[in-house]
Amino acid sequence: MTRLAVLASGTGSNFEAICEAFEKTPYYPVLLICDRKDAPVLHKAERRGVESLHFPLPAQEREEAAGRLSRLLREREIELIVLAGFMKVLPPVFVKDWKDKILNIHPSILPRYPGTEAIRRAWDAGEEWFGITIHLVDEGVDTGPILFQNMFHRLPEDTLESLENKVHRLEHLYYPEIILKFAQGWRRTK
Ligand code: GAR
Repeated sequence: MTRLAVLASGTGSNFEAICEAFEKTPYYPVLLICDRKDAPVLHKAERRGVESLHFPLPAQEREEAAGRLSRLLREREIELIVLAGFMKVLPPVFVKDWKDKILNIHPSILPRYPGTEAIRRAWDAGEEWFGITIHLVDEGVDTGPILFQNMFHRLPEDTLESLENKVHRLEHLYYPEIILKFAQGWRRTK
């Protein structure tokens, strides 16, 4: 049994993929935390019966808010935190508190294109290769030890939209699998 919390900010397609993959298993998320009021992911959690909380992390009191979040997660006996489109940087004290217990997914072949709008920036730069990275979270922005990457070559007929769809399909396919392996004690060995 691994009590999983998902932190998200927006649409929640990865949250849904995780819920679908873990339906009726001990890995089904017990909590969804969202920093943005009215984000679609909050409604998705409600529909799926996952406890969901709007939890802002305003820049001016980021550390205090993260401290409250940490206590809340401990109260709920959370063992693994999964970032799924969570667009706030967690403060170092929080990351230290949850060392090796926070996973993130990013829509690029890191270390290329960390931060927001990664797919569009890669497209604008004329990249030939697109992909995803799943990694442990450290104090940086989309840095931290890489657990898994998958990539594909752009086709001549690809558009920004088709590439975004392909990247999201990879995310939905692999994130649950890697979460499961990680929760079961698997680590990349090289
Ligand atoms: C996903 O593509 C995820 O990789 C990205 O946000 C999107 C969220 O989509 N995360 C980052 O860019 C983190 N730096 P979703 O809300 O539909 O899951």
